[in-house]
Amino acid sequence: FANGANPKIEQLGKYKNSDHGEFMTTNHGVKVNDDQNSLLGGERGPSLLEDFIFREKMTHFDHERIPERIVHARGSGAHGYFQLYKSMAKYTKAKFLNDTSIKTPVFVRFSTVQGSRGSTDIPRDVRGFAVKFYTQEGNYDLVGNNMPVFFIQDAMKFPDLVHAVKPEPHNEIPQAASAHDTFWDFVSLMPETMHNVIWKMSDRGIPRTLRSMEGFGIHTFRFINEEGQSHFVKFHWKPLQGVLGLAWDEAQRLAGKDTDFHRRDLWEAIDKGMYPEWELGVQIVPQEDEHKFPFDLLDPTKLIPEEMVPVEIIGKMTLNKNPDNFFAETEQIAFHPGHIVPGIDFTNDPLLQGRLFSYTDTQLSRLGGPNFHEIPINRSIPDVTNNQRDGIHRMQIPKGKVSYHPNSMAQGCPFQAMMKEGGFTSFEERIDSRKIRSRSRSFFDHFSQPTLFYNSLTDHEKRHVQNAFSFELGKVKLVPIRQRMVNMLLEVDIELANKVGDHLGLVPERLPQPITDSIPADGKLEDYHSFKAE
Ligand code: HEM
Repeated sequence: FANGANPKIEQLGKYKNSDHGEFMTTNHGVKVNDDQNSLLGGERGPSLLEDFIFREKMTHFDHERIPERIVHARGSGAHGYFQLYKSMAKYTKAKFLNDTSIKTPVFVRFSTVQGSRGSTDIPRDVRGFAVKFYTQEGNYDLVGNNMPVFFIQDAMKFPDLVHAVKPEPHNEIPQAASAHDTFWDFVSLMPETMHNVIWKMSDRGIPRTLRSMEGFGIHTFRFINEEGQSHFVKFHWKPLQGVLGLAWDEAQRLAGKDTDFHRRDLWEAIDKGMYPEWELGVQIVPQEDEHKFPFDLLDPTKLIPEEMVPVEIIGKMTLNKNPDNFFAETEQIAFHPGHIVPGIDFTNDPLLQGRLFSYTDTQLSRLGGPNFHEIPINRSIPDVTNNQRDGIHRMQIPKGKVSYHPNSMAQGCPFQAMMKEGGFTSFEERIDSRKIRSRSRSFFDHFSQPTLFYNSLTDHEKRHVQNAFSFELGKVKLVPIRQRMVNMLLEVDIELANKVGDHLGLVPERLPQPITDSIPADGKLEDYHSFKAE
């Protein structure tokens, strides 16, 4: 889009009320003279049921809240745009990644994972980094985090993870803290969490501002070009403001003084014209190199080291406008890793595959029915035309009597969606296998990359990690959980395990070797699967 004419902002403009002293009306357009006093039967008499002005005001108020997100409930958003530096047509036919003259409108929502909607901005936690691109070919969502790896490898475990992370069911404690028994119990029984957890215990776990965070798509996705060729791709956001973390003590003090610390910073920066910017980077792996790495590209607890595949910077995102209304935009936006456009496709990462189900499913209840794509912030720039109809909160008014396919009556009927060339087609991946409930052995090396990460830190950063584990585990009441964690740290680094062990008065013990490759079903230590790649 040309300067000042962001098509998404223009589209949203059609839904906005003026805020300049219009006559107050009811929801049905009737002018209201007094919405401050109830209609009474006499000056000191009872309130009357016929008072439709009172009833409407109160009913709407009574229903103001919608359920908060099951995870990532606390968030802050902003509008902006993305512009490409160089065409990626060699790899992908996605138009917004082909043409450097196109500015694609975006809305970004940053979030914490654990806390509720009103919780503090600065706990030690993973941060969500979700970007909706309103492209000419429909909405593309890159729903990532500020760390390049996830806690678990299979979406089947997501409810367990979240139940362990969230406040405990009997007393709803703690609101927003990593330090609690259920979280560390789960982690200590699930070695696959180690990589994400060591990032979370590092300075990345408490970003200085939302503007100073990196973002990662985490999963390996596919780029598909015009010829139908596939390349694997991982996405990175690199902040031009630099990557900064808060020290733990600093975060504690700030959280006590201003629970909106990150939200306020983002709002004020944009308000003052200090627009935050991120460059988009990609790591591209040819299809034929799928098996050349010492880890599995489908494993979301692994990153591709930049020394192996450099990050190619391809464009820049600028956030330059605060939302007009938090609820209408930041709260009602619905991201989904399944929102892709032609030129981008999925892989068989079992975490990604499960996410493809979960997001729409949760949004059906969070946003009340199947038409939430018609809420202004969720609308695509291209018109939506298909044979879906009706449902709660339908806002579109489709014309014509035909809403099925095939039919012989829809000549000239705009409601009829014909199947035409040029639409999305899935990458034709060969599948020829047994149907089994399993985890691939190629996912079983849980410690090499945490070790790589720990070794990449400077001395003071390592100290922060040691202190974070010592502090968090020091709050865990059950000693066997502490012991299991110290044992697990020994698999990462002996100095780290000893430092944390010293603090807790525990001696790290080697895990039994070789360790079975079975998934720990009953939580027994013997079942740890810490298979190391040969
Ligand atoms: C919400 C990221 C894994 C289910 C979110 C949000 C982000 C995110 C950024 C907040 C979106 C927003 O701001 O509105 C990720 C990443 C994952 C991951 C990067 C792993 C790589 C999963 C998995 C599941 C899941 C495995 C379930 C199978 C959800 C749900 C929500 C959510 C239900 C709430 C969505 C809503 O209410 O709109 N996730 N997530 N996530 N995520 Fe994930």
